[in-house]
Amino acid sequence: MQLLDGKLTAAAYKAQLAAQVKNLQSQGLRPPHLAAILVGDNGASETYVASKVKNCAEVGFESTLIRLTANTTEAELLDTITQCNNNDAIDGILVQLPLPKHISEQKVIEAIDPAKDVDGFHPVSVGKLVQGLDTFVPATPYGIMLMLEHYNINTKGKHAVVIGRSNIVGRPMSVLLSSNHPYGNCTVTVAHSHTHNLADLCKQADIVVAALGKPGFVTADMIKPGAVVIDVGITRVADATKKTGFAIKGDVDFDSVAPLTSYITPVPGGVGLMTIAGLLQNTLKAYLFRKGITL
Ligand code: GUN
Repeated sequence: MQLLDGKLTAAAYKAQLAAQVKNLQSQGLRPPHLAAILVGDNGASETYVASKVKNCAEVGFESTLIRLTANTTEAELLDTITQCNNNDAIDGILVQLPLPKHISEQKVIEAIDPAKDVDGFHPVSVGKLVQGLDTFVPATPYGIMLMLEHYNINTKGKHAVVIGRSNIVGRPMSVLLSSNHPYGNCTVTVAHSHTHNLADLCKQADIVVAALGKPGFVTADMIKPGAVVIDVGITRVADATKKTGFAIKGDVDFDSVAPLTSYITPVPGGVGLMTIAGLLQNTLKAYLFRKGITL
């Protein structure tokens, strides 16, 4: 079993990005600029957005964090997005999800200029992804693809089971793994809450991507020896021994599953860090596209 180390892998991609920013600046160009919009006070969202902003600084990107209160109206949020769309100094826009219940996530996603859609959630981005066109790939599946590439994992012709069909992870992940791409070309099964015999299906998989948000759901009896296991879960579970009062748990029961696998991502220290790498890559892509630069 080999660990797919998100910390090391993300650091390698971030070093490349930092060098690219230096190169741009040496030509007198400004760095890429991400605007992150956070509505309300969801603790997990606060942590994720803070990490995104910190990582921008680490690679030399500019970032602006726009904090709006939980009672912000949908119209006010849409207006903030329009201002970011029209601001030429901003290359990428992300609105952290989930949003308060009174705001339509779909309207918000569709309000973002597709040229600045670094989350890849806009229907234009999703449509392009499905058609195999160049576009912004949602950051978590993108980060997983970067990880497969970094460890040069052979995916061609393999059977991948993706557990979860969310727009953020499962659905785009299934499209990427099945597409004609050096780390794609899998035969993909998308499993969800209505799937029958999930354990049997998983047991046939060469690659399992667990993205359902249920801590410890994937157990050793569901895994074929030698499988590659990617754990996307990041659920906060109460833990009195931690300073924060919670521990981050993945969707995979790591201790029982890991010895069976060829490769596995730990939680924390796996996919979460690669999500940030994916977002940073998308922000550079938006910048280059908007400036008409090809590297
Ligand atoms: N909430 C959970 N994951 C994500 C993500 O990748 N982007 C945004 N904007 N919100 C999220």
